[in-house]
Amino acid sequence: MTQQQENFPAMKERICARLSALGQTHISDYLKQLNDTAQETMLRQIDTLDLSILDPECADEKRGSFAPLYATTLGEIAQNRARFTETGLAAIRAGKVGAVLLGGGQGTRLGCEHAKGMVDIGITRELFIFECLMNNLKRVTDQAGAYVPLFIMTSAENHNETQAFFAEKNYFGYSREHIRFFRQEQLPTVDPEGRLMLSAPGVISTAPNGNGGWYASMENTGMLSELRRSRIEWLNVFAVDNVLQAIADPCFIGAVIESGNVSGAKVVAKAAPDEKVGVLCLEDGRPSIVEYYEMTEEMRTRREPDGTLSYRFGVILNYLFRVDELENTLAYKMPLHKVFKKIRYMDENGNTVRPEAPNAYKFETLALDLVKLQKNCLAYEIEREKEFAPIKNQTGVDSVETARELLRRNGITL
Ligand code: UTP
Repeated sequence: MTQQQENFPAMKERICARLSALGQTHISDYLKQLNDTAQETMLRQIDTLDLSILDPECADEKRGSFAPLYATTLGEIAQNRARFTETGLAAIRAGKVGAVLLGGGQGTRLGCEHAKGMVDIGITRELFIFECLMNNLKRVTDQAGAYVPLFIMTSAENHNETQAFFAEKNYFGYSREHIRFFRQEQLPTVDPEGRLMLSAPGVISTAPNGNGGWYASMENTGMLSELRRSRIEWLNVFAVDNVLQAIADPCFIGAVIESGNVSGAKVVAKAAPDEKVGVLCLEDGRPSIVEYYEMTEEMRTRREPDGTLSYRFGVILNYLFRVDELENTLAYKMPLHKVFKKIRYMDENGNTVRPEAPNAYKFETLALDLVKLQKNCLAYEIEREKEFAPIKNQTGVDSVETARELLRRNGITL
């Protein structure tokens, strides 16, 4: 019998058996409280969810052996800037470069109720995070005299509002026909005991599946068929929350193209050995990112003969990928990482709880795992003060305040 023909009792039996095998009988018990229509709606939702994440076998993968990765430094870039930039601009003019904005995050640390890009960080005028990014991109497209197609990844939660916001702001002066929105997938969230949660009556709580599945989400939403018909050969993927983010940076693109690498990553020199940033390195001979908490003391403090840290370059979530190589990643199942976050849920009494502190796990694919699938990657050093102003937290490090200060120093009126 195919699934389309399956009747309600059979579907209920199948899904409840699966829930029971995964230790989720509280959901089957909850179902009994609902009328038939609500039960069917909830069962249909559960049927769309990837419950394999609940399998204890699905644990974080083991890491290989690490080695430092050499980076193209600021000095080397300065010497070749004009040439790299010309190469990059030529690629943009030839329609070979597209950009992907990762806007599906929930911004739980910042406490966002809406898409993070909609946050207004201006003081004497409105200045939205999305606006900062679009201004940065427009500087490049003005220089090139050609548009860069921009693909904006959203989540189920913020898709409509993001689209409406761009429309309301007239796409921040960018060409509408060069912007596409696509939605990433959701995965269930679990409480600390590994139990599925409810977000509303009859609805299992889900969250966006991380920033690593963007290429697969482009495939699932039909974006890739469009991309494959275009001349785009390179995709510059970047995070929404760095308001100094240089997008489709011609010098970076040119440096990667000229190096012959199939990918590139913008990196910043670590401010101190113990700075909490993922470092670009080699893992079993492949480009990889080692998280700060995975580094041993020896790795953190190891130095090169010239005195610089061996594991020196932190990633800022701005990568360039060659599209033909990305195509090869589609068959690969990206690993899932369990992340403890603040997740809104419905308690046993039917009340919506907005936790003040992390309370549950979401499952995320990570963009850095896509880097590991590349044959090689050019680490390209940037000046922190000019290109890195992330907004992650409400106060303190990487907050609106610190980002504003960096914008001011770069001559942006707030
Ligand atoms: P973060 O790792 O900072 O996650 O995202 P977040 O969800 O935005 O914020 P917190 O951790 O809850 O505070 C880094 C980048 O990846 C995107 C974000 O929008 C940001 O550009 N992202 C993250 C996605 O596009 N989808 C996701 O599922 C997660």
